[in-house]
Amino acid sequence: MIKLKSPEEIEKISASGKILGKVFQTVSGEAKVGVNLKYLDSLAFGLIKEAGAEPAFLGYRPSGAKHPYRASICASINEVVVHGIPNEYKLKNGDLLKLDFGVKYQGFYSDAALTMGIGDISRIAALLIKATKEALDKAIKTAKPGNHLGNIGFVINATAKKYGFKIVKGLTGHGIGIKLHEEPTVYNFGKRGEGMLLKPGMVLAIEPMLSIGSEKIIQRPDESWATADNSLSAHFEHTVAITIAGPKILTY
Ligand code: MF3
Ligand code: CO
Repeated sequence: MIKLKSPEEIEKISASGKILGKVFQTVSGEAKVGVNLKYLDSLAFGLIKEAGAEPAFLGYRPSGAKHPYRASICASINEVVVHGIPNEYKLKNGDLLKLDFGVKYQGFYSDAALTMGIGDISRIAALLIKATKEALDKAIKTAKPGNHLGNIGFVINATAKKYGFKIVKGLTGHGIGIKLHEEPTVYNFGKRGEGMLLKPGMVLAIEPMLSIGSEKIIQRPDESWATADNSLSAHFEHTVAITIAGPKILTY
């Protein structure tokens, strides 16, 4: 059973999401050629703390991982899809950087991700970003009462296919709010009209992850996940509340 959130609870997730959105703006604005990933991580950590919040990923152990996560942000480069650990790597011209992080504020969680090109990127990389962003935008539009969970997955997969890209297998979105990961699992594929009926009070982290090559992912020794054929991947995510008035993005 999914526990629906009250309008007051949605307000609190929104307060958390506003902090996240602001920190995202600053951190993504600092991501340039020559900048190292650890700097971005410590910047995010400091800004989140300054806002009176906690980084949601620090110390969190995602399913499939042996160890708790050691940083505040995931910074995943090129073929790495998720859980890239910020290290001394310096961003290079042409890199595709995925930033993914969450915030816990007064007990309420929000989660978001984006992909950005560093300097001049290839045409295919730019197209991949466009397709993944479009998949998220369209998925959010379908996240309204009366639709089913399958509608969200359907539109994400359909958008990937339209561009000749693949959704990566084995990674999904999720319910969110009281915990970072709650029910339901939000698959990036599905059939319209199938799956759970969407109701006001549901809060979902919708997160399409697309690859230009293989849909298969492999886990690396540092527990990050990369495409099996090392092809480029992109990821966008917002925390979205389903309300009687339609979808409401909480992570701006
Ligand atoms: N990337 C995951 C999500 O968006 C959460 C990260 S788990 C952590 O749902 F281990 F990296 F913290
Ligand atoms: Co998420």
